[in-house]
Amino acid sequence: MNFQLTEEHIMIKQAAKEFSEKELLPEVIDRDRKEIFPYEQVKKMGELGFMGMMNTTQYGGGGMDTLSYVLALEEISKIDASAAVIMSVNNSLVCWGLEEYGNTKQKEKYLEPLASGKKLGAFALSEPEAGSDATSQKTTAIEKEDHYLLNGTKNWITNGGTADYYLIIAQTDVSLKHKGINVFIVEKGWEGFEIGPKEEKLGIRSSDTHSLIFNDVKIPKENRLGPNGFGFKFAMKTLAGGRIGIAAQALGIAQGAYERALAYSKIRKSFGTEICNHQAIAFKLADMYSQIQGARLLVYQSAVDKDNGNNYDLSSAVAKLAASKAAMDVTIEAVQIHGGNGYVKEYHVERLMRDAKITQIYEGTSEIQKIVISRSILKD
Ligand code: CAA
Repeated sequence: MNFQLTEEHIMIKQAAKEFSEKELLPEVIDRDRKEIFPYEQVKKMGELGFMGMMNTTQYGGGGMDTLSYVLALEEISKIDASAAVIMSVNNSLVCWGLEEYGNTKQKEKYLEPLASGKKLGAFALSEPEAGSDATSQKTTAIEKEDHYLLNGTKNWITNGGTADYYLIIAQTDVSLKHKGINVFIVEKGWEGFEIGPKEEKLGIRSSDTHSLIFNDVKIPKENRLGPNGFGFKFAMKTLAGGRIGIAAQALGIAQGAYERALAYSKIRKSFGTEICNHQAIAFKLADMYSQIQGARLLVYQSAVDKDNGNNYDLSSAVAKLAASKAAMDVTIEAVQIHGGNGYVKEYHVERLMRDAKITQIYEGTSEIQKIVISRSILKD
């Protein structure tokens, strides 16, 4: 294992840090409070090459590796986890899958604008009754002469209201169960495609989350991605990469909260000394640091697995499980170290604590990661 960062990695990390501090930090509290989508900032992320980092330059991407993506996401998540999830979904769940499994026509029409940040993408798998149990899709896409007819509802879709293009997972043949599932590219504005009301969330409040409703939406046959019946495998493959992104987001949230708590502990005084001089606080900081360092190694390992062409189903589940637990534990302690100030918005850590929770839920709950991990370690 060699996590020696190259000069290019260091430059990407630095660029993401500078962008986050200059463009994301100034209004992050206000966007969170008022649930304002960061349109301008996402546009700039596109200009920096952050919206299709792992895609080839041929299709508008940054031509970077997964480790670069993780480094950039970590920096962005330290400041603004909402911007991070918008970026992560577009990169991991939409652009990566389009490049890996799309045909040339689909890539030219849809991937190029998505990876270059001119358009935004969303990925729709979850349904009211198919969140963790992803094979139980109720949305149907019935094959007709020259199109598929899409009907059903998707829930909790990140970028649901702001996306231009959507990857929709739907059942095309119920009798075949997960082998009768396909994935389709659907455009906003198509007849019968309705966007439900925005969800009011605990955290990542400036990202937009909606349900999607389909009533007899006609999808041209050429918009099916991959071979017939490939949809469930597509979702599983895409989500394995997505979990690396969410693990990086969790890592960044934890690191951001830790840095704020460390700095605060050196200026805040109680009982005649800076609070970092109390062992109760110093030990908390030691635990937070250790947990973050452990998670970081797991996240980088999984990114390197993907870059080296190794199977990353197991390592991405491990990384997401550990990093999201670290994010939750560390942010709770960061609030505690800040005392009363930790409970108010100005100090950022209460927001980071609210944002941390979703990393244990989306792209597979912690329980789902344990299913993936236990199946893998028990099968040998
Ligand atoms: N790669 C390729 N194929 C895979 C795979 C993988 N990683 N994992 C499973 N498969 C295949 C299996 O090989 C099997 O295929 P065959 O029948 O041909 O052998 C098929 O998929 C079914 O596999 P399982 O029997 O293991 O399926 P299962 O019903 O037991 O479920 C699961 C497995 C891991 C629990 C899966 O359902 C899962 O990951 N659930 C969680 C879904 C999830 O992450 N949802 C998040 C929604 S997206 C989101 O959150 C986005 C956002 O907003 C940010």
